[in-house]
Amino acid sequence: MQTDLRGRDLITTQEWTKDEIETLLDVAFDLKRKRALGESHAILRDKVLAMLFFFSSTRTRASFEAGMAQLGGHAMFIDSKTTQISHGDTAKEIGEILGRYSDGIAIRQVDWDFGNQYIREVAEASRVPVLNMQCDVYHPFQILADLMTIIENFGRDLRGKTINVSWAYAASYQKPISVPQSLVLLMTRFGMNVRLTRPPEYKLMPDIMAQAQENSRYSGGSFEVFEDFDEGFKGADIVYPKSWGALLTTTDNEESARIGKQYTNWICDEERMSFTPNHSIYLHCLPADRNVEVADGVIDGPHSRVYDEAENRLHVQKAAMALTMR
Ligand code: CP
Repeated sequence: MQTDLRGRDLITTQEWTKDEIETLLDVAFDLKRKRALGESHAILRDKVLAMLFFFSSTRTRASFEAGMAQLGGHAMFIDSKTTQISHGDTAKEIGEILGRYSDGIAIRQVDWDFGNQYIREVAEASRVPVLNMQCDVYHPFQILADLMTIIENFGRDLRGKTINVSWAYAASYQKPISVPQSLVLLMTRFGMNVRLTRPPEYKLMPDIMAQAQENSRYSGGSFEVFEDFDEGFKGADIVYPKSWGALLTTTDNEESARIGKQYTNWICDEERMSFTPNHSIYLHCLPADRNVEVADGVIDGPHSRVYDEAENRLHVQKAAMALTMR
């Protein structure tokens, strides 16, 4: 068991060993149990987390803020638009300065071809750990919460389980590709059969695909790409259909919307769920476009675990903060 995680950044799960991820999960399950029993766990008393947002959030902000309070510390909300960041504070200055005020810096910066680079520049300048609350490439805490939810349903040994990470249509906005990328990276490390199902215009980054392939070779699982929406559901234990932008095809929002309109029938409905076994679970990071991306009957139905999944954000983030910010 790897327990020496003090001071470590968490920008992508790829930079943590499998043993370190297992430790984080052990602590998350322990903290979930303690909260259920009402046991105090003020591990980070007097500590401060600076939370810097360049993009809107419901779950991420609320769960980090609640988590810090439950650990006995304080989370400081900083909005890029209402601070001098909008007038030129640089990433280096943010890393230096917030690192002197706080014990950890968490950042959401999802701008395409920029967010990850920004977070890494802050981390380079910071004396305290930097936690990635979502960038253009990765969304590590979402995927750790997803893994915790999968373990709650299928147990710790996930070898041979099939997960279908699928694109689905949404009309609201061009969502980042960080969720499917982080999913294929993490699930391939646990010996799972990972399917990426998407139309040809919705490819993921080539180096992420290569890393996922390498992960699956090492773990003894598999990693396949499907282009048929229905095929992806067949026999899958876990289905995760969600929308993302055609960002590797075009960064033009209007063109991207035109491409998406070819695939409005890529909705996760009861018929698609009937292709999965009775024990299958439906996951979505939320927010979802109801009755466009997923039918109410699925997201509110017996296969859905979306509320457990959202809850588990709290527990994995508390575990990461407790391990890295002590
Ligand atoms: N899933 C997720 O990250 O939710 P928010 O965008 O609301 O934080």
